[in-house]
This record gives sequence, structure tokens and C-alpha cells, in this order.
Amino acid sequence: MSPETTGVNRLPMLNIEHLEKISLDGIWRFQLLESPTDSSRKKWSKIQVPGLWTMQPQSDTFFDKPIYTNVQMPFGENPPTVPAQNPTGIYERDFEIPSSWNGKRIILHLGGYESVALIHVNNKEIGLTKDSHLAAEFDITPFLERGKNTVRITVVKWSDATFIEDQDHWWHGGISRSVKLYATNKVYIDRLYTTAGIEKDNSTGTLKIEAHIASDEVGDLHGYTLRAYIKELPKVSAANLSKTLETKISPNWTELSEKARNAEIEKRKSWDGTVSKSSAAALAEIRHEVRGKVLLESRIAKINLWSAETPNLYKLNFELISPEGTVLQIGSQKIGFRDVRVVGNDLLVNGQAITIYGVNRHDFNRHTGRVLTRDDMREDLLEMKCWNFNAVRTSHYPNDPAFLDLTDELGFYVIDEANIESHAFYDSMCEDPRYTGAFVERVGRMVQRDIHHPSVILWSLGNESGFGANHRAAATYARSIDPSRPLHYEGAINGDWRKGVGVTDIVCPMYPSLSAVMSYVKSGKQDRPFIMCEYSHAMGNSNGTLAEYWEFIEKTPGAQGGFIWEFWDHGLDQRLPDGSIHAAYGGDFGEKIHDGNFVCDGMVFPDRTAKPAMHEMKSLAAPAVITAKSTSTGKFEIFNKQFFSDLSAFEIRWAITCDGIVLDEGVAKIPSVAPRKKAVFSIKSGHLTKAAEKGERFITFTLHAKLSTAWASAMAEIGWSQISLTSRALDKPNFSPSDEFDGVIDEYAEIQLPYSVVAPKLSLWRAPTDNDRIGHISTKWERWGLRELTREECSVTESSNKLTIKSTWKTSTGFAVKHIQVITPIENGFTVNESVDLPKELNDVARVGTNFELSGGLTDLTWFGNGPHESYPDRKIGRISRWNSSIDNQYIPYVRPQENGGHNGMRWFQITDPTGTGLRIDLAKPYQVSVTPNRGEDLADATHDYQVNACGNVVVHIDAAHRGLGTASCGPDTLDKYLISTGTHSWQWSVTTLS
Ligand code: GAL
Ligand code: MG
Repeated sequence: MSPETTGVNRLPMLNIEHLEKISLDGIWRFQLLESPTDSSRKKWSKIQVPGLWTMQPQSDTFFDKPIYTNVQMPFGENPPTVPAQNPTGIYERDFEIPSSWNGKRIILHLGGYESVALIHVNNKEIGLTKDSHLAAEFDITPFLERGKNTVRITVVKWSDATFIEDQDHWWHGGISRSVKLYATNKVYIDRLYTTAGIEKDNSTGTLKIEAHIASDEVGDLHGYTLRAYIKELPKVSAANLSKTLETKISPNWTELSEKARNAEIEKRKSWDGTVSKSSAAALAEIRHEVRGKVLLESRIAKINLWSAETPNLYKLNFELISPEGTVLQIGSQKIGFRDVRVVGNDLLVNGQAITIYGVNRHDFNRHTGRVLTRDDMREDLLEMKCWNFNAVRTSHYPNDPAFLDLTDELGFYVIDEANIESHAFYDSMCEDPRYTGAFVERVGRMVQRDIHHPSVILWSLGNESGFGANHRAAATYARSIDPSRPLHYEGAINGDWRKGVGVTDIVCPMYPSLSAVMSYVKSGKQDRPFIMCEYSHAMGNSNGTLAEYWEFIEKTPGAQGGFIWEFWDHGLDQRLPDGSIHAAYGGDFGEKIHDGNFVCDGMVFPDRTAKPAMHEMKSLAAPAVITAKSTSTGKFEIFNKQFFSDLSAFEIRWAITCDGIVLDEGVAKIPSVAPRKKAVFSIKSGHLTKAAEKGERFITFTLHAKLSTAWASAMAEIGWSQISLTSRALDKPNFSPSDEFDGVIDEYAEIQLPYSVVAPKLSLWRAPTDNDRIGHISTKWERWGLRELTREECSVTESSNKLTIKSTWKTSTGFAVKHIQVITPIENGFTVNESVDLPKELNDVARVGTNFELSGGLTDLTWFGNGPHESYPDRKIGRISRWNSSIDNQYIPYVRPQENGGHNGMRWFQITDPTGTGLRIDLAKPYQVSVTPNRGEDLADATHDYQVNACGNVVVHIDAAHRGLGTASCGPDTLDKYLISTGTHSWQWSVTTLS
């Protein structure tokens, strides 16, 4: 195989649905060979199509398993050579052609295959195709027989093309998308490029339809007519959106056929018969084709524009009519009128410099690998909608066409990315002339397939493949097929945000630090729109400093947002010998070369439930934000962050709380607020100013969608804003001399807490997050010996109801840390004042605080502080309120166990049994606190293979300081202000018993 051969007999990229079709999905015969040259033929076994052999249950047949690598190739060969051991799957089935298809042209369609497919029909060689993520089609008409026919698809895992499919994901093998047959007449539309735009008035639509007509039959296409009709589809709103779109189309169509009747039709022969030796025989049987192009242009008055906020779609019906007036073909496309262009440093959609709240998404299903149903894709998109994402990058290859139907319909801006990544050979493949054809074809076919989708706003030339001549060729080709869309390619600006002009229209770096973003956008040297193609690496407990990026982006013209890396944790369901199932990552299938759990770096867990960081994203990307004008007079201001819609779709509710208890609530009356505008409104409540009750007071506004949507029921919460009101502090726990105070410490000077199994001690360490570990932050902690602290010296002094314990802790590598605890009695308990002197060497510890462990019977947590989800100092957006949770639910199941369950800004908390008996802890100031079940994650070093060590105890951390999370597993660490300074840290907590 040679890189120059990207396919043999593959038809031009089709982007219309032919209506006469037969699905070949289902059970096929299957065998897996060691290599394409392995001549042994085994017993057939069975496989589902579409289906990857790597995802079939363990058996001798399916010996080849998933492999996970990031940058490195899974084998050592250099391009274009691949290992001799090269799993090769033979898929075979029989089929019959209905008699109604007699005399028709019959096409075999293969939706996706990893990574090379050879096609045989009735033992005759039909063709070959490479590019795992775009469909391939073959004309099989001359090879078909009456009655039974047999199709064989031989899928070879590795090829020269593998070197440009080196995405950071699982390597699989097999057929990943549907296989079908379709029939056309001998004169047919084989491609239809629709571009729907708008005129400057923003209300007249322009429609260009370029239809490529082909014929196997007539030598002349004169007199053939393309006729098209257009009709607006019902508005998006109902929960059963997809259905609505398909069924309720009324008959008032606008006909557009005038120009087509007079259109010039070009004529040429399409095939010169020289493609490949091996298939020359097959080719000889295909008749000459005549191809022609019809151009149909039209203007349509008073259209409703498409945007992600207002995904107004139109249905375009088209017909191909013979000179005698017979309708030869009918079909349809859903289209949307919108304009995308770059003007200066802005990417404009319909004239607006929209904000991209985006996320990167790979095709993923934990049971099937990369075989997805339309529902799988829809569920992904609905989940994204719930968290206010408005954009998706199809990292790093074109998705199933159904995905773009859904993004059109649900409203997402899409970067459609070509299937090109040569990460392991970053700089060489893009200059390798043997691969030029593959680069150009992969980009070109994607553009041809997806050109009519309004959701696609940018074409991406691929990912992490350097920058070279092959990119320039691909860019030129894309622009010439589709001049209506700008291009995106990160490699073109990699290392220098000023280069790549002509190839990328967007400055689209990955993982830039906030300071780099700020200085670039403010430098005066910016020359293109700035959108981060990847940022905020979501691996494990991560996404620190997201809010800081957004604070800057939202107030700074020229910065238009970015795409979080990434949507899923790609842990595959794997059954362990004991029958349990875990989320498998690199290494779990026995592969020697792998990149561990780096494949689990998404905003949702492998089962698609959201990680806590999603709450922060939702709040940042909410459609409106409310701030205070004057809380005492009840004046607030609402800003509509949307670009195309007013706020009439939302109801705004408010609640005033004190110490987390609701005092008053209502629905706010807000005036009509145009897109990007602000309005002042008032709230009337006697509780705004009068602080009769002691405790912290807030007004919290919540934004609710009045109507149900495809992704949320009516009145679902879409966003919120919280504003603090004047408050009176809660009473401080009173000093109260007590007889029992004597027993507060034991003979080892350890504090005796009720329920305690491990006494309060100093803690400077946390179970390393993926960021801590991969970013080598916890390497320092290990070097400093923070994991194990031992109390070396200790003195206790007692004076009238005050105990002072002075200790020196030694880290396991010998650093000394001075620690003082002063204990005073209060009613029902005692207060502990602590202070620690952090030596100057320990200039980046994980936390400074108190840690203890309580015994089993305590099951419930109530707290007043940030919540309800997990939060950390650099990911702390939450609502201060009173929250309840079982302690078990405080555990956040990051795929690789690590620090979890934190709550920023904790004021007080209670740990009780179900009857309310237990402890209450009041904090002098808001601190970072976690109360989690002991699952032994402290013992877990870098792997999920350790046994979950649930001992039923409750681990409590009260941290005067807690290090930020950052995103150092891939990208910047947290900001300096979230690091823990050396010197003195003091904190105070009071414990009382609840009965
Ligand atoms: C980027 C790359 C992604 C992924 C990510 C790290 O460099 O484009 O595919 O590897 O880093 O998770
Ligand atoms: Mg990569």
C-alpha cells in the first residue's frame, strides 16, 4: 500500500440521502487474521455490523484489543511502513437485490472503517478506501447477480494512513458505521452543494445550489432540470424536537426552479480508466459517465436566520427532471440561512462577534468504542446543552453526518475537523509529497460532505500535524470549494501566533496561559480572531482557573472563547475476573506501549454523568447575569449575554436567605432586554435591608426556561447569580469553663473528638490529582516528605481552661514544621485555634489544615457554604447556601482515585447519623473543607488497580489554605495567587456535639 493511493474506485463524496436504500447492518460472518497476507482461513464466527472487533467479548477470534496511545505510535515502524503483525478482519454477508431495482445503478456505502477497507462483491475486487471517518461509496452495479450476492469487506488495522490518524484516543479495528446499498436511476444527482447565506439587510436569504448531475446512460445532459423548493420548518422548542422536524411540514413551498431550467450544463467524461492495475478488470465493466453541473441561485425575502441561539431551519426539496418531464430523483436537505465571516479580529456570525463556549468531543461509547447510534450523539449534545455549551469541535475527524443534522437542529456552532493527525511525526508528514493527496482529499471530502450544514462555521484542517505544504494545498482546495467559511488550523500558529496567515483565519492555540492570552489580545499585534481550540484540560479533578479565563474573555473584544478539552472520560467498560466492571484505560488491555489514564480527561465520566466542574461552566456560560445596583433599595441589573435573542424565554426567580434558610422569595418582573443589553429592575421585599436574623444573607436569582426544550423540562434552571446582602454575624461560640474539659486531650496530647478514630493532626498533603501528578507538583510533595508527618516534639501547657499544645512535625524527609494548638472550652464542646509556621523550603504544599477521621455510624453531611457541588479555591463558583448530602455522595469517583469532595467557603458543617446525632463544627472564617468516606484514595498511586478500600470511616479536612487545582496535566498550572505561601497560617474551629 502506498500513501498516494487514498482509494481505488471510490465515488465522489456524497452528501445527499438517496431514498431507495437497503441497510446491510446486522449480523455478518467474520474472521480475524494475523495480517492481510495471512492465508489461513478459519471457521467463520459472527459479528454485529457496525461493530469493532476490538470491542467484542473475549474469545480466540477477537484476539485484537483496544490500545490507547496519545502522541506515540503503538508500534516502532517509520512511515509509511507498518508492522507485519497487522490484524485484519474479514466481514462477509449475503444479500439480495429487490426486483424493483432492476436496471438501476446500485451503490455500496460503507460509513466508517478503521482503517483501510477492501471491497469485494461476488469475489470480484471492487475497490479500496482509506480515511477511517468518512464514508466510502462504490458502484457495484456490474458485479451483481440475480438472487444471492455476497459482499466482503476486508478491514486492515494498520496502513500508511495510520500515520495521519494518530489522534490521542483508542486504536480500534473494524467497521464503525453503517453499511448500506442504495439505488439511483442512470441519470442522477451525485453531489449537491447548498450554500445558504444572507444579504446585508439581515433578512434576505441567498441560496446557491450547485448540483452535479451524472449519467451512465445518456451522452448529453441537455434538457435535464433541477427543481428545488424551500419551506421553513417549525420553530425549535418542543421536547420531541427531532420528530417535529420530520413530520410537520406544511405544503406552502417556495419554488426555486426558474434559473435551473436555463442553466448551462457542462459535459465531460469522468473516468480515464487508469486508476490501478489490480482493479482494471473491474473498472472496465463500468460504463462511461457523463457529468454536468447545474447552478441554481435564488433570493428569499424575510427569512429567519440560523444561529446556535435560534436554530431556524428550512427544508430544501429538490427534484431532477428529465427532458420529457419525468421526475428521476427527489431528495431534501435541511439548511439554515446565516453568514460567517472574519472581519478584523472578530469572527462574525450574522454580523455578531459571538462568544464560543465550546467543548471538544471524540466519538465515544463505553460499550462499543466508536460505534454510535444517532441517539448516542443526541444524548451527548443534549448533555452539552444542559451545561450551556454552544459550540463543539469534532476533534479530531468528521463525525457521522447525523451529528451535524443534530447540531443544526439543536443549535451549536461547529468546528468540523478533517481526519488528519500526524502527532508522532509532527513536522515531517505535512511536508511529505506522498501524503499531499491524502491531506487534500480528507479536507476536501469533508467540505463536500458537510457544506450545507449551517452549524459548521469553520473548517479545520486537522490536528497536531505541524505546518507544511500539504496544509497549504488542503487550505487552497477547501477555499475553492467553499469560499463561504473561514479556516481553522492550530498547527499553523503553533509557536508563533502571528504566522499561518492564509491557512488559518483564526488564532486558535491550545492551552495558552491566561497571561499569554492577555498580553496577545492587548498587544495591538493581534491580526485575526482569537479562539482557543483547546483549553482547560478536564482530566480528573481539574479545570482550575476557568473563571479567570472567562472574566477576561467576556470583557475583552478580540477574545472569543474556546473549546474545553474535552467532553468525555473515555474509560471503556471492562469486565474484571471477579465479574465487576471498571473503566479501562491505557494498559488495561495488556498493551505494552500506552499512555495510561490520559484518555480519561473529560467533563463527563465514562457513563456521561457530569463532573462537578460542569457547574462552573454552566454558570459562566449562562445566557444572563445579574448584578447589584443598590441592594438596599432593591435595584439590580440584568445583562443579556446572548447575541440574537431577548430574555423573554426566561423567568427570573429570586430568594433571600439567611444562614441558608429562605426568608422571602418571588418572581422578578424584568423589562424586555434586547441582545447584549442591560436593564435595571427592582425587587420588593422587607428582607432586603432589615437584618433581624443573625447570619449571612444573600439574594439568589435563578434563571428558568419557561418552555421545555429538547434537553430540559419547562422551568429547568439555566443560570443563576448570587449577591450578598448586609448581614449580622452569628453568635461566636461562648467561652464556657467546663469540668469535662480535662479529657479533651489524651496522654499523647492528641485531641479527643467524639466519634474520632484518627485524632486531629496537621495535614500538608493531598492525594495527588492527575494535574498534581502529571504536572510533577506532587513530585515535590514526595521529595519534601509531606505524605507522612510525625510529631517529634510536643509540649502541653495548661492555664485556666486553656490548653496549649506546641508540636514540631517532621516530614518523612526531615523538614520540621512548628504547630501550635490552643484549646478552649465552649458550651457542649471546645474551640481549637491552630497556627503553623511553614518553612521557606516548603513553598508549594497541597494544603495547610487539620485532618481527622470519624467512625462509621455518621452518614450525613449538612453544611453552610459553597455548594452543592465540589469546589476548590480556583474552581469555586457555587452558591452559598445550606446543603445536605449523604457522606457517601461526597465521594467523587474520578477514574483514577485522587483528591476529591472539597467545598470552598465552608462556614459551618454538621456530621450526623440519620437521627441528627453527631458533631457540628463552626469555622472562624470560610475555609476549604471536605468530608468524604474513606475509600483509601490516599493510598492510590497513579492507578485504579488498587482495591477500593472502603472502611466506613469519614475523613474530614479543614484547610486554612488549599492549593488550586490548575490544569497542569496538559497546560498551565494554577495561578500564583492560588499557591500556598510559606510563613504563618492560622485557623480556628469549634466543635460541639449534637444530640
Ligand atoms: C492536545 C491534543 C488532544 C489531546 C490533548 C491532551 O494537544 O490536541 O488531542 O491529546 O492535547 O489531552
Ligand atoms: Mg495529539
